[in-house]
Amino acid sequence: MIVLENVDFYIEGHHIIRDVSFAIDEGETVAIIGESGSGKSTLLKLILGLYTPTSGSVLIDGVDISKLNAKEIREVRKQIGMVFQDGALFDSLTVGENVGYYLMEHSNLKLADIEEEVVSMLDFVGLDPELRDSFPDELSGGMQRRVAIARALISTRPRIMMYDEPTTGLDPRMLARVSNIILKISEPRNVSQIIVTHQIADAFHMAKRFIMIDSGRIIFDGGGNKLLKSQNENIIKFLRPFNASLTRHYEMLEEVNNKR
Ligand SMILES: Nc1ncnc2c1ncn2[C@@H]1O[C@H](COP(=O)(O)OP(=O)(O)OP(=O)(O)O)[C@@H](O)[C@H]1O
Ligand SMILES: [Mg+2]
Repeated sequence: MIVLENVDFYIEGHHIIRDVSFAIDEGETVAIIGESGSGKSTLLKLILGLYTPTSGSVLIDGVDISKLNAKEIREVRKQIGMVFQDGALFDSLTVGENVGYYLMEHSNLKLADIEEEVVSMLDFVGLDPELRDSFPDELSGGMQRRVAIARALISTRPRIMMYDEPTTGLDPRMLARVSNIILKISEPRNVSQIIVTHQIADAFHMAKRFIMIDSGRIIFDGGGNKLLKSQNENIIKFLRPFNASLTRHYEMLEEVNNKR
């Protein structure tokens, strides 16, 4: 579904992404982790076609997106739902208008049908449909994040969802809600998902595969167990603050999985 082949990327003479290769399957959820400034958001922008690799290629569904013209790339982007870190909602529009925005702009659906879609999407992300007449600044951060997910999901039912720091700054209850929505999206819908986060503990709720970036380079690609056992110095340093709680969390998960 998403393939990066030997991608290098420079901005203003700085080598930001170094020889990055990975493939993400249909229906797979992957967490991209790494220190601040390591290049995580840049990778998302390369996949969205907002940046073009200096060398190497990004393939979506087998198509090299750097070879597409502006119109073709917009078509590819329609398959991708992107949830930006701050939610990036339109402040002057209501929650309902935010969620329905894509359908109002890009579909011939009647207003009543759009309204129905909006209500079902709000319901899907666990928000009271009554909230559709509120404005984003009347909602908590976690609620805004969920509105942003609903808005991304409504656009042509994307086959790829990407989230930049979806759980950063949320309290544990909101964190659980947002991560459960992300889990719920992946399986039955067969959506490929990329979650960018430096909150490794949160990533363990949502993904089974982890790609760790360090100064633009992949230093790890694999499962959680292997990640926790890694002897790589940079990985050990990155995991240290989370390690105790993570190990406990991971044992708990294994127990749950074994009982299934
Ligand atoms: N437009 C730009 N111009 C110059 N440098 C940039 C630009 N965008 C990103 N960078 C640099 O590229 C590096 C990677 O940035 P990126 O935003 O991808 O990091 P990140 O891993 O997402 O960090 P964070 O966890 O803080 O969001 C940083 O050193 C940043 O300063
Ligand atoms: Mg970032």
